[in-house]
Amino acid sequence: MRVLGIETSCDETAVAVYDEQKGLLSHHIYSQIAVHRQYGGVVPELASRDHIRKTLPLIQQSLSDANLSRKDINGIAYTKGPGLIGALMVGASVAKSLAYAWQVPSLGVHHMESHLMVVMLEEEAPSFPFVALLVSGGHTLLVDVRGVGEYELLGESLDDAAGEAFDKTAKLLGLPYPGGPSLAKLAETGDSQRFHFPRPMLDRPHLNFSFSGLKTHAVRVFKEYGENAQARADIACAFEDAVVETLVVKCKRALEKTGLNTLVMVGGVAANKKLREQLKQKITDDGGQVFYPRPEFCTDNGAMVAYNGWLRLSRGEKDNLAIRVKPRWPILES
Ligand code: KG4
Ligand code: ZN
Repeated sequence: MRVLGIETSCDETAVAVYDEQKGLLSHHIYSQIAVHRQYGGVVPELASRDHIRKTLPLIQQSLSDANLSRKDINGIAYTKGPGLIGALMVGASVAKSLAYAWQVPSLGVHHMESHLMVVMLEEEAPSFPFVALLVSGGHTLLVDVRGVGEYELLGESLDDAAGEAFDKTAKLLGLPYPGGPSLAKLAETGDSQRFHFPRPMLDRPHLNFSFSGLKTHAVRVFKEYGENAQARADIACAFEDAVVETLVVKCKRALEKTGLNTLVMVGGVAANKKLREQLKQKITDDGGQVFYPRPEFCTDNGAMVAYNGWLRLSRGEKDNLAIRVKPRWPILES
């Protein structure tokens, strides 16, 4: 089976083709960064309009790069949610229309589940069961994963997602959107000893997170010291260290609690270098194993949708022709 995957949940239009025998045949991504940068964040209506312009050309490019014609596609997967409603509608409408025209099944998949499953495309892939840390712009979740669609929530952020905290703190420091990568870059020149940020909720036994206090702390420190470039770098470094340590400690606790020894980290924030290094070191020191996707498959991409779509389409799942999206959609209900 060969599946075309379409991702349009936020500010990236991404398309890929996954073949169950040969693996990933092509993947293309068009980032809307330039569209949104002048506004300091994603403008939903502009995102929808840009997806309309880019989705079909990217599909054509993906097919032609892989030397495929539409007859070679046996199923179409698209992101049904969670995400921006207008942006999701574009992907769903294109996917359903093509599925109808090409007479192939289509399936709407869960964005965070796609983030999770893409780790299986790596040469070193985990086997079930494992604990997953899903860290993106909209979600911070710790999940006990027993198989595809078999999830138990271990913990989640009670306020801002980790990526959101990165983005808001980056904005405070005057860094361009998207904030996470810009903040991480600035943090490289920071002094990690100058400021110490709190590690939220580490003193509580549960596996939930809270990141909004860190952002408030950053505001306070910034007002007092933030006027020069070095102080901003030091704040970025202290903030990043606090997020990284908090995530790593809660991951270790999640492994202890479940008795599992495999940790998988996915989602945009999983592209963060310090987080990747620290998590690997701290978990392997304790005899555990850590897996994460290559950085380009941590942030939004089409490969994750094509692969996740294949996992479910090949089990016989498919949608009817009604175009419906789910802007809010807990992963436990996927
Ligand atoms: O998964 P993703 O591409 O989109 C969502 O599903 O939200 O995640 C985007 C988030 C943004 O908040 C972005 O700032 C963050 O991931 N991010 C990073 C890094 N790269 C992306 N955060 C920290 N360090 C990075 N290197
Ligand atoms: Zn995402």
